[in-house]
Amino acid sequence: MTADFPDRWVVAPERAIRGRVRVPGDKSVSHRALMLGGLADGETTVEGFLESEDCLATLKALRALGVSIERPEPGCVCIQGVGIDGLHGVDHALDMGNAGTAMRLFMGLLAGQTFDSILVGDQSLMRRPMERAAAPLRRMGAKIKTCDGKPPVVIRGLSDLRAIDFQMPVASAQVKSAVLLAALRTAGVTKVTEPATTRDHTERMLTCFGVEVHRVGATVSLRGGQRLRATHIDVPGDFSSAAFFMVAGCIVETGFIELQGVGINPTRSGLFDILRGMGADITVSNLATCGPEPTADLVIRPSKLRGIEVPLELVSRTIDEFPIFFIAAACAEGASLLRGAEELHVKESDRLATMSEGLTALGVSHQLLADGMRIDGRKGSGPVFQAGRIDSRGDHRIAMAFAVASLQAAGDIEILGTGNVVTSFPGFASLARESGLTIREYGSSVGG
Ligand code: S3P
Repeated sequence: MTADFPDRWVVAPERAIRGRVRVPGDKSVSHRALMLGGLADGETTVEGFLESEDCLATLKALRALGVSIERPEPGCVCIQGVGIDGLHGVDHALDMGNAGTAMRLFMGLLAGQTFDSILVGDQSLMRRPMERAAAPLRRMGAKIKTCDGKPPVVIRGLSDLRAIDFQMPVASAQVKSAVLLAALRTAGVTKVTEPATTRDHTERMLTCFGVEVHRVGATVSLRGGQRLRATHIDVPGDFSSAAFFMVAGCIVETGFIELQGVGINPTRSGLFDILRGMGADITVSNLATCGPEPTADLVIRPSKLRGIEVPLELVSRTIDEFPIFFIAAACAEGASLLRGAEELHVKESDRLATMSEGLTALGVSHQLLADGMRIDGRKGSGPVFQAGRIDSRGDHRIAMAFAVASLQAAGDIEILGTGNVVTSFPGFASLARESGLTIREYGSSVGG
């Protein structure tokens, strides 16, 4: 057992699921709603806010920086924006917990402030690369130090930032967003060009706050000096949380899953395209918009999945869904191949290594590649996964992915390090149980 993440689940095999599920609010959108609401003039209200550890780290940091935030009822947040120049310094390090999004976006938000800031996080976050955000911010004039490229991140106060034209070397929405947030405090026009499509929640939400953002091809541009007007933000269901139930619905023998109000922003929904390409039976209805984001209801039924070679252009649009994709690929007929996904090495865990270890423990034949994985696919009609124990290495998405594997397992799957599931999907185990999975929880937080 990993000492830092004592919680664990034991998930028993099941062959049927049935349920109507509303997954919690989108994590990326919730972080951004808090930050932009804090920088706006006036009161911003947010509904459908994700009350997960990651988003609460952002909320706590903003409060420390002088933003008054109330939570009148579950999922509802009321932010008294202090305006673009209204934040004040803090005499302690700001703790971002497990949240890479919080740390990188705060780097951009704090880079042009007149006061100093220090950003830290948990053990996983303290190992993650921060130079990708620090480097462009330095080009804008920011004084930022990292420690061998990693946190703590120390930001020195200054008076001016300048606009830049930035060709992003890695496809990262967090880096793009950090630069756009810093760009608000410059006098010129900042341009960011991405090498592949990354999620555009920041651009969409800035528009809701009255900021003009332009996109031409792969380049986003923003003129500094614009003020943000407070607004109301409705947060859609998180596609990345829905993804676990989508794959569950495909690989189970009988039943169906209906998912309501899922965010289907095309810069995020790569897994949808991949599953469809594998032959998944997914019906889409009730197309709507939720604030700046498109949503839909999805019905997923048991499907005869075929292996797939993941098209390169889908990699950045699927990035957080590869742990659960590997589970789907293991259940498909024929081999699947993922390349071009080296970014997975620097997520909450090294997701290629951690998934490979887990797949090995459950007897799934696959080959780990430097930038992806080849998965051989199911052999015959019996269970795909043997009983066994896997260590999620404290990575929330890996824990949830292996819980879904129980729908094709021969025996119990024990999952270590489940404590961090609350960083993105509080209530996952209960929702999964309501749909038919059998998850027993043990560990410090549940007294088992
Ligand atoms: C996120 C962007 C992605 C994603 C992360 C959330 C965001 O990271 O993996 O979970 O909210 O901007 P990168 O920007 O590092 O690709």
